[in-house]
Formats: sequence, structure tokens, C-alpha cells
Amino acid sequence: MKNNLLWSKSLITKQQRSAQKRQQPCILWFTGYSGSGKSTLANALEQELFGLNHHTYLLDGDNVRQGLNKDLGFSDADRQENIRRIGELAALFVDSGLLVLAAFISPFRAERRMVRGLVEPGEFIEIHVATPLSTCEQRDPKGLYKKARAGEIQNFTGIDSDYELPENPELKIDTSVQSLDQSVEQIVAFLRKRGILKYI
Ligand code: ADX
Repeated sequence: MKNNLLWSKSLITKQQRSAQKRQQPCILWFTGYSGSGKSTLANALEQELFGLNHHTYLLDGDNVRQGLNKDLGFSDADRQENIRRIGELAALFVDSGLLVLAAFISPFRAERRMVRGLVEPGEFIEIHVATPLSTCEQRDPKGLYKKARAGEIQNFTGIDSDYELPENPELKIDTSVQSLDQSVEQIVAFLRKRGILKYI
């Protein structure tokens, strides 16, 4: 018994919660550079899934870092803790029967693998938003690459902080060569094939 804690088992199961929602819960994990299109894509996909009557929830780096994780910065250790907390949160949402969309740079393989391990096989779908760094830097929607190049921001992913490429993502999407609609369609097709949208 670790720390004198026992797991208190809920009387309603994940299966019951998800059956009520007529869906197969999962985590759709978007990883990629800042400016790669993770949030845009996750938002468009959420709209599509919501339109199909699914119960979804979107977790986004910029937002979560203003609330739950506002005590964390961008050192390697803080990014690890950021993803650890998000992973635990996303796993609870899966237990509640939701389709969770998570958009975080999540630059390290170890943490992505850790989140995958928090849910059952097949419930973690890694979507590598593989837009090249040069395109992300050109887009620079928040002006952060410019600041990082000028030395005004340290530890910026792709400039002076690492991004470890996913080795085996379920999906790979390069938003510099395919449209938003095409990308959403690609993910929806995958989810249907996997049986995640089987009720509709
Ligand atoms: S993660 O690396 O810990 O997964 P997360 O997705 O939560 O990052 O937050 C990334 C967002 O924080 C970026 O989209 C950007 O707007 C902002 N940001 C601020 N400073 C940095 C930095 N040093 N590196 C990367 N993103 C940063």
C-alpha cells in the first residue's frame, strides 16, 4: 500500500459512461512545433466530431499553461511535468468516456510514451503535425520565433530546445502540403476505421 493510499473504485465503469455517450473514448494527441497547426487542426476536428454528436474536450498548451500548469516554464523538467499532468488529466477524461483532443508541443518521446501507457492499448492516437520547422518559423503566428532568434526567449523548441520526432505515430500530417479539410478528413477516416466513431 503506497503512502497508505488505496484506489477507491467508482461504481460506474468507463464502459457504462462511454456506452451512454455512444462512443469509444480515446486521446487524440497532437504533437509538433509551435506554429505547426496543432491547435487549428484540433479545433477543426473537434467541431467536426461535435457536429457528429460526439462528446469531446480540447486541451491546448497555451490555455492549460494559464491555469493548471501556470507554475511551469519551458525547461526540460517543466515540460516533462507539463505533459505528465496533462497525461493524467487526459486519462481521467478517457475514463469519463470522452474523446480528448490534446494539442501540446510535447517534444520528448519519453513523455509521449508515458501518456500512451496511461490508457488502454488503442486509446492513445498520436498525430504528428509534421509541418517543417522552416514553415512554422515563416508563419510565426505569435512572433515567438522572431523573439527566440533575437535571444529574447530561451529554450524555444526548434531553436535552442530539442524536438524528438515521433517514431511511430498513428498519423502524420504536414499542414504545409495539405488543407485543413483534408487533414480533418484524414483523421475522421482513421477514427472510423479504428471503430472509434462506430456508432454514427
Ligand atoms: S510543451 O513543450 O511543454 O509541450 P506547450 O505545448 O505546453 O509546450 O506550450 C507551447 C506554447 O507555449 C507555444 O505554442 C508557445 O505559444 C508558447 N511558448 C512560450 N515560450 C516557449 C518556448 N520557450 N518554447 C516553446 N513554446 C513556448
